[in-house]
Amino acid sequence: NRLGIIGVPFAKGQTKQGVELAPDLLRQNRLRQVLQSSDERLLITDYGNLQYAVDESLLQQQRQHYHHIHNYADFMACNLALIGQVQLMLRENAQFLAIGGDHAIGFGSVAGHLQHTPNLSLVWIDAHADINLHSTSQSGNIHGMPVSFLLPQLRATWQHAALDKIAPNCLPKDQLVYIGLRDIDPYEAFILNKFGIRYYAMDSIDRVGVPKIIEMTLDALSPRNKIHVSFDIDALDSNVAPSTGTAVRGGLTLREGISIVEALRDTKRVQGMDLVEINPKLGSERDVRTTVDSGLEILKSMFGYRRSGARYYSNLDT
Ligand code: ARG
Ligand code: MN
Ligand code: MN
Ligand code: MN
Repeated sequence: NRLGIIGVPFAKGQTKQGVELAPDLLRQNRLRQVLQSSDERLLITDYGNLQYAVDESLLQQQRQHYHHIHNYADFMACNLALIGQVQLMLRENAQFLAIGGDHAIGFGSVAGHLQHTPNLSLVWIDAHADINLHSTSQSGNIHGMPVSFLLPQLRATWQHAALDKIAPNCLPKDQLVYIGLRDIDPYEAFILNKFGIRYYAMDSIDRVGVPKIIEMTLDALSPRNKIHVSFDIDALDSNVAPSTGTAVRGGLTLREGISIVEALRDTKRVQGMDLVEINPKLGSERDVRTTVDSGLEILKSMFGYRRSGARYYSNLDT
């Protein structure tokens, strides 16, 4: 079972320095060994950190339409490269992992995945909906907008971005499920409700519990589709993931996060994952260690670790 890993040290989707350091920091914290020991059959290829150049002439025109959002040209250049990189990794591997960087890379990661596998479902685990349009964003930070590039009904608002050319396949709105939301902008709430997008915010998790949320999520997704899991570390409560740019209290416990990821993994349909928004420049040294450890626990569960101790040779694991 081949797994390709790409680091995407992109930090311009928001304003805080440091989130670009996460891919190398996870590597220093034995990312590869942690994954390898969670499933010894994994054949891991680390493709290093994504390289890209900003093509000024190509992007200048687009940029002038989107001058009110920060770093549009860098965002598009990075994501163009990522769309290509994801397709390359999926030609060479069964699964891929993209490590951010901020959540602006969710666009390129999912869009690249959709070009390789048009029948795709997306589970977006986050405190935030990241579905702002350039016209609705109050911050101008493009890490709050990536989902709007993916849905056919919303990408039309990016009419100068040439999306039909760079990423023609988009995500049907009924194949998107959000889990963990608790900080939704007013206009985002309007969009979610207008399009009937499925989202399980923290209040519904509290009402029915994580097992029911998992069941409803899996029921909503087409059983024949591959799955992309985009995991923003701020979905976890800030006591287990303090080092992140837009922390919100009252989030998922680490156990809840693990349990969601395990259930998704057990479908054997997860083909791509993002882990984003770990910022080692925020908080104390201890905060950073806690956040990195939580991220590694989430990845471990996604790529094979079982809390029950069952291994692939066990008859429990069919
Ligand atoms: N909704 C806010 C915004 O649009 C916050 C987004 C936070 N996104 C994230 N990926 N952490 O600016
Ligand atoms: Mn394939
Ligand atoms: Mn996010
Ligand atoms: Mn978030």
